[in-house]
Order: sequence, then C-alpha cells, then structure tokens
Amino acid sequence: EANQRGAKFLCIIKLPVASRKVNTEVNTRKKTFTEVQTERLEQAERTVLIKCPSRLNEKKLLQYLSSHGKINSHFFFENRGIHALVEFSEKSSVASLQDVVGIPKAAEHHVVPFKSRLFTFTLKNPVTKAAQETPVHLSPQSHIPVNELIQKLYRADSISSQMYILLNEYQLTEENTKLRFLACSLVQDFARAYFPDSTVKPFGSSVNTFGKLGCDVDMFLDFHDTQEHATQMKKGPFEMEYQMKRLPSERLATQKILSVIGDCLDNFGPGCMSIQKILNARCPLVKFAHQPTGFQCDLSVSNSIAIKSSELLYIYGNLDSRVRALVFSLRCWARVHGLTNSVPGTWITNFSLTMMVMFFLQKRSPPIIPTLDQLKELADEKDKHIIGGNDCSFVSDLSKINPTKNTETLDELLCDFFEYFGNFDFRKNSLNLRRGKEVNKPESSPLYIWNPFEQDLNISKNVNQPQLEKFVAMARESAWILQKEDRTQRMINKEPWGLAALLTPFGKSNPNKMRRTKGLGSETIRSLLDSLKLSNASNLQKAVGK
Ligand code: CTP
Ligand code: MG
Repeated sequence: EANQRGAKFLCIIKLPVASRKVNTEVNTRKKTFTEVQTERLEQAERTVLIKCPSRLNEKKLLQYLSSHGKINSHFFFENRGIHALVEFSEKSSVASLQDVVGIPKAAEHHVVPFKSRLFTFTLKNPVTKAAQETPVHLSPQSHIPVNELIQKLYRADSISSQMYILLNEYQLTEENTKLRFLACSLVQDFARAYFPDSTVKPFGSSVNTFGKLGCDVDMFLDFHDTQEHATQMKKGPFEMEYQMKRLPSERLATQKILSVIGDCLDNFGPGCMSIQKILNARCPLVKFAHQPTGFQCDLSVSNSIAIKSSELLYIYGNLDSRVRALVFSLRCWARVHGLTNSVPGTWITNFSLTMMVMFFLQKRSPPIIPTLDQLKELADEKDKHIIGGNDCSFVSDLSKINPTKNTETLDELLCDFFEYFGNFDFRKNSLNLRRGKEVNKPESSPLYIWNPFEQDLNISKNVNQPQLEKFVAMARESAWILQKEDRTQRMINKEPWGLAALLTPFGKSNPNKMRRTKGLGSETIRSLLDSLKLSNASNLQKAVGK
C-alpha cells in the first residue's frame, strides 16, 4: 500500500509514442486480430485509473476531469474500494491531469520519481450534500459462482440455450477487456523506462475470445516494431551497438530483460505486488499481482508462436457462435470436475482443452471450422509469417473464410464431444489441427496435441496417464447422463438437467445415481465410478493405453 501511494503521482517519463491511426474503414466488417490489438492498445494509452471515495459525486468527478479534455468513456468498478476507468479522447489529457495533481508529502512518504496514471480522487471540502452522492453503477469484473449459474440454467428451454446463458455470464465484458489492456499499458510505462521502443501486449485468453472473467492476464514485452525497423534500414557504413550488450543466447537476453523489468516493477510499480521471477522455465516469465486493476499477471518476452496461437483461436472463436459456447461450457465442466486446475500440474490445461474442442469441430461433417492448412491456403502476401523456420502463415481477414454449412445444435455437439473423446484411441493417435486429422503419436506422451506452429512440440506434454484416464471417465459419464436423462422428469423433480447436471459434481447431488447403477450397464458404471478415484479400472486403461 505504501509502495502504491508513494509512487503515485511523480515525475513523467516522456515516452515517444507514435500515435496510431484507427482505421475507420473496418467498422462494417469483423476486425482482424491485429486491428483489435492496435486499437485497444492505443485506447489504453489514453486511459487513467482513479480511486474514488466510497461516497461519490459522479457528475463532479467527470466535470473536473473534462477540464483536461474530452472523455470518450468511463465506468466504475469495485476492487478494494470504488475505482473509475476513464478513457480520454486525447493522450495529452493524461499529461494535463498529471501536471496538476498533488504529490504526497515527502515527510510522509519517500517518493520515487515516477509519474503514473493511477490517481486518487479526493475533494478538499467534503461538504457536498448526500443528495448529490447517488450510488454509481458498478460494472462487474467477476462472474457469478457456479451454484448461482446452475440456478439460472433451470429456466432455459434447451441445452443449447443453457450453453449461451453460461457464455453470457462468463465471457469477458467490454469493460473488463479495457481494464486488461490498461494493465498492460501501465506495465508498458515501466518497460519503456528501460526500452523506449518496447510495447506490452496481452495474449492468451485475454484476447483469443475464450477468456472468462477472472482469468489471468498473459502479457508479453514486444520489441518487434524495433526489429522491423532494423530490417528495413538501408545498410550504411555504420552498425549500431543496438539495444543491449551482445549476449550468447536469446534465452539469456530474455532472462536478463525480464529480471530488470521484474525488479523495476517490484521497486517502483505502483500496486505491483508479490513479484515472482520464474526465469528458468521453458518460457521465462515474471508473475505479479496488479492491485489497482485486480489482475494476476504473467509477463514474458515476445513469443511469436504463442501470439500466433492466440490469433488462430481468435479466428476460430469469431467464425461461428457455437464455437465459443461449446468451449466455455467445456472449460467450466472441466473445472467443476477437477480436470483443470488454476495451478500448473499434470492436468489438462484450458489451452489444451480448447485445442481439443477445435479439433473436434474440424472433424464434424460438414466441418464447423477449417483446418489450419485450409486457413493457410487463404493467406495472402501480408499474412506470410515464418517464425524460427516454421511456416505460421494463415489468413487474417475473417471475411475470406466461407461460413460452415453445418447446422448441428449445441445439444448434439456437446453430447458428441463427450462420446468422441470418451472413445478416442489416445494410445495410438494424436490430434493434429493443421491437418484436422488424427495421426499416429510420434512419442509416448499419454495425450499428444501437436503445436500447430511448431512441429514436434506437444502442447499437452504435461498431462499424465491418470489425468487422461480421469478425463475419459468424466467424458463417458457425461455422455451417459446426456443420452439417458429423462429431462421432463428431472424438471418436474426440480433436479438439475442438461448442462446443469453436468456442472454438478457427479455422485454428490445426483439422487438418481443409485437407481441408475442398478439399471442397464451397471458394470460399466461401476468401473467408471472406480476410475474416477483413479483406481485401475481396466476398461479405461484399454481405451487410454498404458
Ligand atoms: N501457449 C502455448 N503452448 C502451451 C501453453 C500456452 O502456445 N503449451 C500459449 C497459448 O497461446 C496460450 C497462451 O500461451 O493461449 C497463454 O497460456 P495459458 O495462460 O496457459 O492459457 P490461456 O489460453 O490464457 O488460458 P487460461 O484462461 O487458462 O489462462
Ligand atoms: Mg492465460
């Protein structure tokens, strides 16, 4: 807290930022991934975060801020007190505001000469009448708990509408997305103190259309613009000792850069807490909690392959509304049953699970989404990207991709997903999204999903045999529930049905379980139940290998 307050208002670091033009032509069609990124990053640079008193005169606040320039948008949210995110229409308004704010007295705090975009709003004479302090509307930054969601699902009329309800409750809001880009932009202010040409951009679920409220912000430090500049330069007689000392490996450079940025955030970053440098990981990163926005952040150095996967998922998520609805439901299902976990381990990650869903959608007849090879065929000159010898080209313009002719309902897709992976030959086959085909596993990892952009990399290498078995068992149990449930009876009994039944831990509040196990296929159910406890259910082992 002292850190946050102490560093709040001080001296500006003047950063040379080329103001980016927002393309107005694109308003009529769906924006490309890069267009969205560019527009939102530029927005974030004109944005400030203001801590407000619990009783607030919204009009006064806006009036005061307007004296520094036009306000494009604003909203309030709760995060250890009320905060306002305010987006000015011009970047100069931020500097104008910074120039007139008070600075904590040096006797009280040892100030650090960094001027940030975090402010506290206090009125000297809080004599404003209570009547003027109307409660402000708070925009929610987290989703409702699962048990509340399940209540809402009762009222739906089909599994498909249940899945859209879940999507609506869990997906990132416009406000939450703005806050995520602001967090990156605030970190960028610090990164630029060291590396004036760097940018900090979000990737992963914050931008790939599959993020849910509350998920971490994955961000990376990008020097790409500088590199482009370097390759475009005409060769003269001079060579610059550019950017940094020459180091023997890119990895070492990455570690050193992250190390100093980590220290910088730790020492001077207002509201940056619990900084952890994880520099020896395959992909080195700095983890920290960004208190002003309330996000847990993972900062790494530009990883072009990971960004390409984010763009690929962005395209898939935008092609057909069923794609995101299915992924959100399955991510939630996997979390409820402990198949995924917020800490890293031997379980399936959300990223792997999402790729499994994409693979499944490529395999429908007719396919719901194209394979990566098909997207590559649609790529034009400017879409060409070769990264580390790997061809990562694919089309960026969504309008070039023909809509699917597939008309299956989400009810069918959800059930078939469980059946498909409940019976998938994981012993023998791997998932290849580039070709949209199962191919023989190149090595013996229990679950093998090809990294679409890096040959010979398995994105689910971390998954062990028991976790895969648990996944298969849960998929089979879920298919069974969906196929066998008597929906009308369950609705009459006020029992969870459809998606709600799948999001209720199995065996806990399923009063029908005992009845069901006596019926058809009780042997199968018994062994499935056993396998849930990760025991040696033999039929499952046959399916998943070992
Ligand atoms: N990534 C990757 N290969 C992996 C793991 C991750 O390329 N084996 C990339 C993906 O682009 C992924 C991003 O890193 O989207 C962030 O990883 P992670 O945070 O694990 O996944 P998210 O997609 O962000 O999902 P979550 O909501 O669980 O954070
Ligand atoms: Mg993430």
